[in-house]
Amino acid sequence: MSRQTQAIIHADAIIHNFKLLSAMAPQSTSMAVIKADAYGHGAVNVARILQHVSPHFAVAIIEEAIVLREAGVTVPIVILEGAHQPKECEMAFAHNCILVTHNEEQLRWLETCAEDRLPQVWLKVDSGMHRLGFAVNQVPGILSNYPRVLKQDTVLVTHLACADDTSNTFTQTQLDTFYRMATQTGLAVSVANSPATIQWPASRNNWNRLGIAVYGGFKDESALSLLPAMTLRSSVIALRNVPQGESVGYGQTWTATQDSVIATVGIGYADGYPRHCPNGTPVFVNNARAFLAGRVSMDMITIDVTHIPDVAIGDSVELWGENVAIGEVAKAAGTIDYELMTRVSARVPRIVKYR
Ligand SMILES: Cc1ncc(COP(=O)(O)O)c(C=O)c1O
Repeated sequence: MSRQTQAIIHADAIIHNFKLLSAMAPQSTSMAVIKADAYGHGAVNVARILQHVSPHFAVAIIEEAIVLREAGVTVPIVILEGAHQPKECEMAFAHNCILVTHNEEQLRWLETCAEDRLPQVWLKVDSGMHRLGFAVNQVPGILSNYPRVLKQDTVLVTHLACADDTSNTFTQTQLDTFYRMATQTGLAVSVANSPATIQWPASRNNWNRLGIAVYGGFKDESALSLLPAMTLRSSVIALRNVPQGESVGYGQTWTATQDSVIATVGIGYADGYPRHCPNGTPVFVNNARAFLAGRVSMDMITIDVTHIPDVAIGDSVELWGENVAIGEVAKAAGTIDYELMTRVSARVPRIVKYR
């Protein structure tokens, strides 16, 4: 039998989460963000799952959109970083993509497009995050300098730096700064990501961009009934008794405080299971929690199953999913669920399941 390491992608959870989040903003149009291979879930998988409910998709770069087009996905795609080189303007038009444009060089490239080959362009506004976009006070000038490229269908896009933190007043500052300018232009706007949609009602506007929560992330922080979209699982490939006082794994970082049963599981950091997970990080096996014992190796982990009766070779082990929240593992590894999802490697087959 082949290695039982798989990421199960729950199609119904993805649809449930997207509909739940969209319903929070009934005055808006919500689009699913499926960049970075749909946060590791498989962009083509997720596009096929959501194509009838998400009227647009968003990706970071045009190469990601072309993969979707080659798979037959026809929904318009927003390219969040815009064009990286002049020829991408023409490609965007040919592939029905919208370029979020954040600097004047990109606008000059667009000006060279023939009138009937000009893609739709949205404009990125820096309302305080200072990562991408035109400063708020530049926007009126930019709009009037490029009338052939920036038209009535241009959407003003901004991104919030701290929307995941309800106690941080900087979000309100960004919203005030952005809306003060945007309302004067009369153009549509796009502000909210997942945390903003959930926690900052004033950020919900014409277009919302939903990423992490579609995949069931940001769950610990919200009271919503978001469902995990991925179960990362593997199986027990070896079992041994480890006497009290003996250690397990590289660097001898875990030592048995009693006679112990250690199961070796066929997943490691080369599959995307974080090497930074410490001893004690939970996994789920035979209806119980077991705990990491010893360092994560490239292809394997070792877990303490002393307290779980009858664990056998071949038993399924959940690394994250319904029983171990991905946020819990992320916290143990000192990172965020976004990183864990996007780091599940190409070696792990994605299996799409409908309940
Ligand atoms: C510009 C932009 N919009 C929207 C999103 C989606 O954010 P989230 O995954 O927090 O919903 C991202 C994600 O990184 C982004 O960079």
